Amino acid sequence: MQDRFGHRISYLRVSITDRCNERCTYCMPQELQEWLPREDILSFEETIRLIRIASELGVSKIRITGGEPLTRRDVIHFFRLLARSTNLRELGLSTNGTLLSREIEPGLTMAQAVRDCGFNSVNISLDTLDRKEYARITGRDLLPAVITGIDSAIAAGFPQIKLNCVLMRGRSEHALTSLVDFAAERNLLLRFIELMPVSTTEVLSESNFFPVAEGRRVIEESLGPLLPEPEFRTNGPATYYQISGRNQRLGFIGAMTNLHFCENCNKLRLTCDGKLRPCLGSYLEFDIMSPLRAGASDEDLRQFFLDVVERKPEQHDFRTTYQPGRKMVAIGG
Ligand SMILES: C[S@@+](CC[C@H](N)C(=O)[O-])C[C@H]1O[C@@H](n2cnc3c(N)ncnc32)[C@H](O)[C@@H]1O
Ligand code: SF4
Repeated sequence: MQDRFGHRISYLRVSITDRCNERCTYCMPQELQEWLPREDILSFEETIRLIRIASELGVSKIRITGGEPLTRRDVIHFFRLLARSTNLRELGLSTNGTLLSREIEPGLTMAQAVRDCGFNSVNISLDTLDRKEYARITGRDLLPAVITGIDSAIAAGFPQIKLNCVLMRGRSEHALTSLVDFAAERNLLLRFIELMPVSTTEVLSESNFFPVAEGRRVIEESLGPLLPEPEFRTNGPATYYQISGRNQRLGFIGAMTNLHFCENCNKLRLTCDGKLRPCLGSYLEFDIMSPLRAGASDEDLRQFFLDVVERKPEQHDFRTTYQPGRKMVAIGG
């Protein structure tokens, strides 16, 4: 699949729930949540059918996200079905890490069960190592569970584990260096993400915004020069740097300040309520659940995907007119 601007679409992010066991200020509004009713959420079978169709159209990488995907009931059953019914090159999970170390049966952690389903990558959110600060950001005092979750993921042997930290002024200044050291100790790839306007809370104000360039400056002040690595890319939009004198690489996702951010976009998103979104930072979304439930053939659904790709915008609207419509938690970041 290729869009009007030459983007080859090979990556589908699939949100399987709008629910979460945390309440990150930049993602979820603090007011009482209204979860979607169960019948409005794609079933596992429906989700797998759409993933299979996408893979027939050239999607080779899937990332399961949410909300918090590991809170969905029977999620491991879903992962096993997914692994059995599709043949994807890369299977990834985005998680807040809080449930990775939970034993789902004696001697089997959630992390190990996910790995055993063939997942090769896991992205874990971690904004700070200060327990009080973590609780302030996420609304839950779960930092110790996240740390053991990260260690469970390491023990499970995922080939790729990334830590993702959202940057915020007033907080990141103090948190960055210890996060870099933590990632170095465990030999994990750490990435810093600029705050995007995808929640309704006042947290997304100009004064809280902390650009990736400033993050690099803070790190350089304590750890020395960062050397750009323009040749190094993963499948995502991060740019990478090496810390001089250390064998450690850091990623920076400058969704707001990097004007080339959208150039290599290869993504589509599927929300848990069955909307295909061609871009995170655009209002556009297309209801694929209705035709799916009305008996559409595989061919109809393939055409639906192609039509959505045809409408993929050249770049996101975050810098111009964008006002959050759907919250991040309901899109799947
Ligand atoms: C929506 S979460 C879903 C998966 C999982 N619950 C987690 O926290 O990793 C996916 C990613 O989006 C990021 N995110 C959420 N809101 C954001 C915002 N307003 N700006 C930038 N990144 C955001 C989170 O930090 C997380 O790394
Ligand atoms: S960022 Fe992830 S953990 Fe935090 S509220 Fe959003 S979905 Fe939940």
